[in-house]
Amino acid sequence: MASDLTPERLAAILSPRKFKFYEEIGSTNDVAREWADQGAPAGSVVLAELQTQGRGRFKRQWSAPVGSALLTSTVLRPAIDPTQLARVTMLGAVAVAETVESFTPHQVAIKWPNDVQLAGKKVAGILPEAEWRGDRCVFVILGIGLNVRIDFTDTLLEDSAISIETVTKQPVDRALLLNQLLQRIDHWSRRLTSEDLWRAWRERLSTLGQHVQATAVTAQTGGQISGQAVDVDGLGRLLIRDENDTIHHVVAGEVTLSL
Ligand code: BTN
Repeated sequence: MASDLTPERLAAILSPRKFKFYEEIGSTNDVAREWADQGAPAGSVVLAELQTQGRGRFKRQWSAPVGSALLTSTVLRPAIDPTQLARVTMLGAVAVAETVESFTPHQVAIKWPNDVQLAGKKVAGILPEAEWRGDRCVFVILGIGLNVRIDFTDTLLEDSAISIETVTKQPVDRALLLNQLLQRIDHWSRRLTSEDLWRAWRERLSTLGQHVQATAVTAQTGGQISGQAVDVDGLGRLLIRDENDTIHHVVAGEVTLSL
């Protein structure tokens, strides 16, 4: 079967957007960073069929077989200060969720802060990496790994990860998926600091109301916190109420459900 992701198709579909496509690369985030350093305009995008050094949050490895995923990094140039970086996390998660939803009959949720979930399992991961000059953001590389047709059956990830085609049961064209994703990224980039973005993100958060355990960085400290995830604030922090009724504002971290 002909690939759905060729430079020719991408040129036709993405024009006039600037893009770089690689059959094999270390990490699309690294290439996008170099390109941004050399002046790539906002919206420029790097794609790869295979990453040999793909990375996820918490320095984890991120890998996907050739032809099975959308591995992409987009250059953004938002006018934000460091306290607003969570806005880019929201943008990425909402743009991916809306894109996946437009290709599947299912509702798509977000596990705080930015794991996109389809049928309760992770379908995409997002890794924003920012470059600052003092308090001024020079660029953000918005790395996205979207599982399109990875078969997780009989793997360690079977219970926690899923691909779009597992749900659609028919082929999804990755070039069209990418085009839709970039349009949603453009849309929310123009509304990055809006209440609308925060609401769209908050509405999809499957974490709210749940009892969670967080390996967390809070405004006060770091470490393990457990309690109920009661809300998020405008800075994107997760509010966890512990058994003493103390509210912790979690800036970053990983949450798991606790029973
Ligand atoms: C996560 O841990 O959930 C985030 C995963 C982000 C993976 C993507 S794949 C494209 C881009 N390049 C990378 O090296 N990582 C991101």
